Amino acid sequence: MDSLLDVAAIKRDFPIFQEPMRGGKRLVFLDSGATSQKPIQVLDAESNFYATNNAAVHRGSYYLAERASEAYEGARLKVAGFLGVSADEVIFTKSATESLNLLAVSFERSKGALHIGAGDEIVVSELEHHANLLPWQQLAQRTGATLKWFSMNEDGSLDLTNVDQIITPKTKVVAITHQSNVLGSVPDLAPIVTAAHAVGAVVVLDGCQSVPHQVVDLQALVVDFIVFSGHKALGPTGIGVLWGRIELLDQMEPFLYGGSMIETVTMTESTWAPVPKRFEAGVPNMAQAVGLATALDYLSNVGLAKIHQWELSLTEYALAGLKEIEGVKIVGPQGITNRGGVISFTIDGLHPHDVGQVMDQYGVAVRTGHHCAWPLIRKLGLTGTTRASFYLYNDFSDVDVLIESVIGARDYFWKR
Ligand code: ALA
Repeated sequence: MDSLLDVAAIKRDFPIFQEPMRGGKRLVFLDSGATSQKPIQVLDAESNFYATNNAAVHRGSYYLAERASEAYEGARLKVAGFLGVSADEVIFTKSATESLNLLAVSFERSKGALHIGAGDEIVVSELEHHANLLPWQQLAQRTGATLKWFSMNEDGSLDLTNVDQIITPKTKVVAITHQSNVLGSVPDLAPIVTAAHAVGAVVVLDGCQSVPHQVVDLQALVVDFIVFSGHKALGPTGIGVLWGRIELLDQMEPFLYGGSMIETVTMTESTWAPVPKRFEAGVPNMAQAVGLATALDYLSNVGLAKIHQWELSLTEYALAGLKEIEGVKIVGPQGITNRGGVISFTIDGLHPHDVGQVMDQYGVAVRTGHHCAWPLIRKLGLTGTTRASFYLYNDFSDVDVLIESVIGARDYFWKR
C-alpha cells in the first residue's frame, strides 16, 4: 500500500511541510477538508502570472493583455478538461460558496422553467454545509418557496424511504452534497437524481469534498450543476468553479452586474454577454485561475483514482486505531464503504476545542466544532466533533501521530 503514492516525493513539493510547528514539531496536516496545502508548482504558476502576464483580461488590445487572456482562458480549458465538459460551461467564481449563491439568486431572477418563486419547492439535505443550505434557505424566505430536506441517518447516509414525498412536481431544484464535509459519508445520489429529473427539477451537486479527491464522472452522475472550490484542490484561495449544462446556463440571469458581463449598455437598459462571461462581472481572479489549472494538472499527474484509494487506506488505518482508544467514538460511518477520507470523532467528557488544542501540541492540525454544518451536528445531539481529513501528502506515520495525540488529549483531561 505504501507504494500506491510516493508521499515523500509529494511532500517535498509542498514548502509548508518545512515549517516547524509549536514546540518545533513537524506539521501533521489533517485539515484538508477545510483547505489544502499548495505545491510549489501552484505557487510558481500564480507568481509567474503576475511576473510575466499580468494585465486585465478581455479588455486590452495590447500584447500583454492578450497573453493574460490566453492564460485565463487556458485555465478555463484546463478545468473543462478535468471535468470532461465544454469550456463555455465553466464559470469562474471567487469560491464554491459564491457559485451556490450565484445559482440561488439567478434562479430567483430568471424567467421560465428555472425561475423559483412562491409555491415552488427547493430540496436539500441535513448533510449540507452552510454554503449549500443558507443560499436556498434564504431564497425560500425571500420568495415564498418552500424548503424541504432529506433527513440524515445516524451512519451519515440519507433517509431515502420517502423520496416521492420530498421531491414532488413542485420541486424546482435539488441541491445535495457529494460528500459530507463533517462525516465523510457519501449519499446515494442515483435515486435522488432520478426522482428530481422525473419531475423536471435540476440537480446541483456540492463537489467541494469530492472533486479534489476522486474521479468525478459528471456523465455518470447526470447532475445539472456542480460547484467546487480551488483552495481545497491544491489551488489558491479566491477561485471557485461553477459548471452547468449550457442549455440551462443560457436561460439564466446574471448574479453580479458590472464590467465584462454585458452585450450593450445604455443609461437605462443593458443586455447580457453570452455564458460564461455573463456570470463573470469585473476583472476576474486571473492569477488564481491559472494557479487552479496548475493544481488540477498536479492532481491529474498523481492520479485521482490513486489519491482516493490512498485516502481510504489511511482512513481505514485511522478508524482501526481510533476505535481502540477508550472513550473515543467515531461519528457517522464506521467503515470505509460510501465514504471519503474524513473522520469525525468525539472523546467522552471532552469539548472538541480542548481536544484540538492538545493535539496541536503534537503538531497535529485538525478542525474542531460544528464544521459549518450546524443542523447535522444538532441532529446527532452533539455540540461539535474533532475532524481529521486526509489528502495525498499524508501517510501512515501521520495517522500514528494522530492516534498518539488523541490518546494524549484524552489522558491530559481524564487524569485531571
Ligand atoms: N468547508 C470547510 C470545512 O469543512 C471550511 O472545514
